[in-house]
Amino acid sequence: MRTAVALLACLALLLSPAPAPAEGPQATYVLRVPAPKGESAQRLLGLGYDVLEQRDGDDLFVVGDPKTAGKLRTDGYPATVEKTMPPAPWAPRSIGDATYYGGYRTITAHLAHLDEVAKAHPGLATVVDYGDSWRKTQGNGGYDLKALCVTRKGPGDCALTPTAPKPRLFVMGQLHAREITTGDMAWRFIDDLVGSDLTAMLADVEVWVVPIANPDGVEIVESGGDSPVLQRKNANGTCTSGSRGVDLNRNAGSHWGEVGSSTSKCSETYRGPRADSEVEVQALESLWRKLYRDTRAPGDTAAASADTTGAVVSMHSYGDYVLFPWGWSTQKTGNDAALRKMANDMAALSGYTAGQPGEVLYNASGATDDWVYDDLGVPSFVWEIGTDSGRCGGFLPPFSCQEDAHWPKVRPMLVSAMKAAKRPY
Ligand code: ARG
Ligand code: ZN
Repeated sequence: MRTAVALLACLALLLSPAPAPAEGPQATYVLRVPAPKGESAQRLLGLGYDVLEQRDGDDLFVVGDPKTAGKLRTDGYPATVEKTMPPAPWAPRSIGDATYYGGYRTITAHLAHLDEVAKAHPGLATVVDYGDSWRKTQGNGGYDLKALCVTRKGPGDCALTPTAPKPRLFVMGQLHAREITTGDMAWRFIDDLVGSDLTAMLADVEVWVVPIANPDGVEIVESGGDSPVLQRKNANGTCTSGSRGVDLNRNAGSHWGEVGSSTSKCSETYRGPRADSEVEVQALESLWRKLYRDTRAPGDTAAASADTTGAVVSMHSYGDYVLFPWGWSTQKTGNDAALRKMANDMAALSGYTAGQPGEVLYNASGATDDWVYDDLGVPSFVWEIGTDSGRCGGFLPPFSCQEDAHWPKVRPMLVSAMKAAKRPY
């Protein structure tokens, strides 16, 4: 049977027109680009370059191919090569492998992990299917969107209603698919919640973990096997030169379509055709509305009420930052003092730098972190996990870095967030 399928596949290949000559493997460059905070940084983002979530003084960093430095120069940005990554040998993972790139768990393994933990700890963990990825909605592969609710289960716990009894910490990974550290942090968090001293904390807090918020994007990443594909966006869309998909962290309906996002489909920060156009973003927003009461009046300046509970963390990489709203502007929120204090507390545990995105990095609109605070008043944070350089820096650190370098910093921040969620303001 298997041979027959393989034969058919070969036949199909032989009969189909020859594929366009593939471009040979290309080196990837990280370019250092002078782009001080403000106008210069925002223009760079607007031009659609693949700007990393990292800043060094007045410089930002752009990922590109051999032509990118030239393009940047034409656009008025004299770039220098910071790092060259040689083309990696093509080593796709085998179907059925539970890991890739030295130990990173596949999406399929992540989804199975949620079920396994729920089965092994029925009093602690509940799997919630909160929607479908874009490819699944198209009947073209894809994945369920899944969360794990973890708490010492009592009446009303994990119910999809904002009036559930315990305060809720929500943590997600891999909204940006290539930020593979973040899914692994989610995996470790789940294991520790049900099997370490953290379990005792679950008497009076509910933790929601979404390990992979963008599974279609992660499927593209892991298809590279030992040389993961640097896909950031989801899989919805086409692009002839560049990367397909919508940037899920530019698509949310909070100041959608403003600074730091692009109208060009191939841009890494493509915002999508309209606010909340993407099913992955819709599913998250609708889940958050079920989990949290709205405690903030509309507008950019109103403060959320003092009785707000909960917190939301969106894990990204990299740059060693703890970011808090607003991210669409350097204007301060109505809860600035409290948000800043919480961010500083987290940053003190990891050595990261706390600030609003525009204070330390760049402004960007339509992000889910802004949406959470904007729509619901719930404190929300972006963690940019990891340094830009060194053995454990960048998007694709060796797997051992997760245990050695990242988890020891992220774990204490998660504990801090679990505590802060009880009465954040
Ligand atoms: N590095 C993140 C991104 O580019 C930062 C998002 C920060 N939040 C914000 N609202 N700008 O998506
Ligand atoms: Zn990111």
